[in-house]
Amino acid sequence: MRQAGNQRTLSIVKPDGVRKGVVGEVIRRFETAGIRIAAMRMLRLTKREAEGFYAVHRERPFYGSLTDFMSSGPIVVMVLEGENVIARNRELMGATDPKKAAQGTIRAALADSVEQNIVHGSDAPETAETEIGYFFSDLDIVI
Ligand code: RTP
Ligand code: MG
Repeated sequence: MRQAGNQRTLSIVKPDGVRKGVVGEVIRRFETAGIRIAAMRMLRLTKREAEGFYAVHRERPFYGSLTDFMSSGPIVVMVLEGENVIARNRELMGATDPKKAAQGTIRAALADSVEQNIVHGSDAPETAETEIGYFFSDLDIVI
């Protein structure tokens, strides 16, 4: 059973993060912030799987390019756990566009572009649950 007050979110180190060798750097930032990693796995998405994951964006002009990018190499998917972790993770990530991201955030420090921006983080409890379910079964998550 999950402890009351504990929240979960899905984090992804995107293909650019794996290619740049900053998986450890991203994890260190989570751990330093006191965020617990409850599950972790490396995999490569097919184009179809990337399209499924980002289905909410299917009408957006960047959908094709985004799903090409997300299926271009291995990613690391993690379940993060902690108090208010959805918002805290998004704060650590910074704004979508690294040029607009606050100094010291993952995207400001490590990302090259609005698309190749190193990390994904769920944006609400409902999306967190759906996104975690896309990659992990309950049995994979360490409690
Ligand atoms: P994410 O979902 O990956 O955590 O990022 P986010 O909430 O900050 O951004 P969102 O609006 O959900 O967009 C999802 C991902 O699509 C790519 N993107 N490209 N070319 C563009 O203008 C553009 N806008 C967004 C990024 O990879 C973004 O993280
Ligand atoms: Mg998003």
